[in-house]
Amino acid sequence: MRDASLVVIASRLPINDAAASEGVFEWRRSPGGLGEALHPVLINTPTTWIGWAGKAGPTTSLPDVDGVRLVLIELSEEDVRDHYEGFANSTLWPLYHDAIEPAVHHRRWWEAYQRVNQRYADHAARVAAHGAVVWVQDYHLQLVPMMLRAQRPDLRIGFFLHVPFPPPELFMQLPRRAELLRGMLGADLIGFQRIQAVHNFHQLVAKVLGATVDENGVEIDGRVVSTGAFPVSIDTAEMEALASSEEVVQKAAQLRADLGGPQRVILSVDRLDYTKGIEHRLKAYRELLVDGRLKAAETMLVQVAIPSRERVEQYRLLRDRVESEVGRINGDFGRVGVAAVHYLSQVFDRTELAALYRAADVMAVTPLRDGMNLVAKEYVAARVDGCGALVLSEFAGAAAELTQAYLVNPHDVEALKDTLIQALQADPTEPNPQMLAMREHLRHHDIQAWAWSYLTALEAACAAR
Ligand code: G6P
Repeated sequence: MRDASLVVIASRLPINDAAASEGVFEWRRSPGGLGEALHPVLINTPTTWIGWAGKAGPTTSLPDVDGVRLVLIELSEEDVRDHYEGFANSTLWPLYHDAIEPAVHHRRWWEAYQRVNQRYADHAARVAAHGAVVWVQDYHLQLVPMMLRAQRPDLRIGFFLHVPFPPPELFMQLPRRAELLRGMLGADLIGFQRIQAVHNFHQLVAKVLGATVDENGVEIDGRVVSTGAFPVSIDTAEMEALASSEEVVQKAAQLRADLGGPQRVILSVDRLDYTKGIEHRLKAYRELLVDGRLKAAETMLVQVAIPSRERVEQYRLLRDRVESEVGRINGDFGRVGVAAVHYLSQVFDRTELAALYRAADVMAVTPLRDGMNLVAKEYVAARVDGCGALVLSEFAGAAAELTQAYLVNPHDVEALKDTLIQALQADPTEPNPQMLAMREHLRHHDIQAWAWSYLTALEAACAAR
């Protein structure tokens, strides 16, 4: 039935996998995730979301969740292995993140990528109303814009890449580079997180496809495709309200008491991913303990590491390395009843997360490369008291906006150590101008502002075509 006027296509449906397996369908609200980002925008607009439920095999139809109609894409075991774990997360993901881990190439993965992208495009073509806006999300689905345009030229098609778009030296390694660029160019507007990504894309389409580029977009085969940077954000007001609630304030105090009342708490919240710089951070923390610049009884590190992509080998190996390093630090520096690193490899709900943010004097967000990093923004929004310190990697997209943070190059272990110490020395009970300035920024640049600016630019791009 072609009646949807706004269609979102993303690799996954925004539902909680664990709850869904027990028959309860609720919005997936993992910290910094895509469902989290889009939730406040979509619950106010009649929307259809097309995605996969996170498990292989046949699935039943789903009810609407928070007013959003869900259309399920079925993936076989082979699709999951070759498309999701293979081409998306073992070829594109590492390459787009500076090849921190080497990108793996297999020809059969490319076939699966095409096949699965076609399935998403076919579903969208079936449900989208005439002239509807279809908004395609992220690196798993780069071919969908062109596939959709081929079937439905009436649609207004947007594509947004949540991860970094790499410099030509890296992208040129992809055996299917021309097809991937052409796939994206099926959109009317291609959005990136940072302006550097727009430049990388322009250079590539000129070099690989011979397209003409100017600062607003690309001209190819007689079509104009707009491009631009639209840094994604969070629901600032929602996080502020949650963090101000009595429940969160009490939980935060309880957490500090449970930790044994340390003088300072450093917090990190990451998906367990090699791009997040967890190992570099643990190394810096360990060396600070070895050097005696920190004392385990006084300063604690709480590392939340949410399990992710667990069947992909690079993730399994990372988990082993991280857990062995945590064990080593605790073995060397813990005492009976007091750990040096509190390592929590589990999913937290929003209230617990807000309490952790409020309990942390220093938030360390130090990825080696990250499209945006919404956890950094959540921490700032949660500090309704104007206190706290954010140590932020220069290589997170968020660093372009949160310029008052303690910015650091996470590859430079000495700099990382010095920056952590500097942040720990700030008075944790006094509101500080840096935090207040970042909070002010997020009040104006929230998720609604992001969606509005993207969708307005898409309208303009379509009106001009
Ligand atoms: C990143 C990607 C998202 C993805 C999320 C979680 O933020 O940009 O597209 O959904 O990671 O990864 P997963 O593999 O669990 O979907």
